[in-house]
Amino acid sequence: MSMDVKILAIESSCDETAAAVVVNGRDVKSNIISSQISLHTLYGGVVPEIASRKHIEKIDQVIAEALESASMTLDDIDAIGVTIGPGLVGALLVGVAEAKAISFAKNIPLVGVHHIEGHISANYIENPELKPPFLCLVVSGGHTHLVKVKDYGVYEILGRTMDDAAGEAFDKVARAIDLGYPGGPKIEKVSHEGNPGAISFPRAHVSKGAYNFSFSGMKSAVLNYLNGCRMKGIEIVQADVAASFQQAVIDVLTGNAVKALEETGMKKFALAGGVASNRTLRNAMKSQCEALGAEFFCPSPLLCTDNAAMIGAAAYYDYLAGKRDGLDLNAVPNLKLGEG
Ligand code: KG4
Ligand code: ZN
Repeated sequence: MSMDVKILAIESSCDETAAAVVVNGRDVKSNIISSQISLHTLYGGVVPEIASRKHIEKIDQVIAEALESASMTLDDIDAIGVTIGPGLVGALLVGVAEAKAISFAKNIPLVGVHHIEGHISANYIENPELKPPFLCLVVSGGHTHLVKVKDYGVYEILGRTMDDAAGEAFDKVARAIDLGYPGGPKIEKVSHEGNPGAISFPRAHVSKGAYNFSFSGMKSAVLNYLNGCRMKGIEIVQADVAASFQQAVIDVLTGNAVKALEETGMKKFALAGGVASNRTLRNAMKSQCEALGAEFFCPSPLLCTDNAAMIGAAAYYDYLAGKRDGLDLNAVPNLKLGEG
């Protein structure tokens, strides 16, 4: 008899249909991701209706593949972890309905997972030694949260964005300089040929709440700069705009993180979320941590952007804590961290 807990995890909150098998929260047996990015690129962003339809088309296939590459069947699975929010309601519902159907048909316990908790938990996968407490900066397309992870599943939000999320700002600026969707990876790529000091964009200081963020002013500053150039007939150097904007975002993110590390005295720091796959951000935060004598953690890029392995990691700790959901489990598009 094995004491291992084998979790089938499902993620469908945005534009990736994903399934994974994770054993004991950290051992990833399979991690299958079907990305819809190329479909949405046509429209310059995620189209919710298309996302839902594509999830329905792909979900069975992705789950079958996850079980097959883990050399398991549903009979081996101890629990199903599924993202219930936050995210696009129609997209979330596909994963939740699928998880409930499997749970009902095979009598397997169901555990609803918070998407951001998944992003944070991605750090456990490649770092078996990482345990709470630690400080985590979650930077994704929908969220910018500075979180004190006090224990597994126990979070205190120290700061959040007052307007745009960091990834959202990357996406909007990318569109403005004709780089297209998704903006983050494209800005990172062209930034390598640009000068981060070429243009000085404002680093917004938010007075309300010590660790809060603001990115909409920075985005407007980029738009104003571009308009100004066009009106004055000044050539726009795409790579310089990208690199200068990226540097401004990184300065704001690392600035708050360093302040929180100093003021809380915490000695472990983790990055999470899609924007955490940005090399320049990772390197900047790593050297800040080294200077402060804090340990630095960051998932590999594939585990930073949306995936189901991270949902399996989070579901494991919820499962251990005794969390079980019924067949009345529902998608919660605006779910707050620490709820559900
Ligand atoms: O975590 P994620 O996959 O989905 C959400 O939960 O939102 O994050 C997606 C976001 C997008 O805004 C994307 O532009 C951004 O992460 N992103 C990046 C990079 N890769 C993805 N931003 C900056 N640099 C990157 N390399
Ligand atoms: Zn995400």
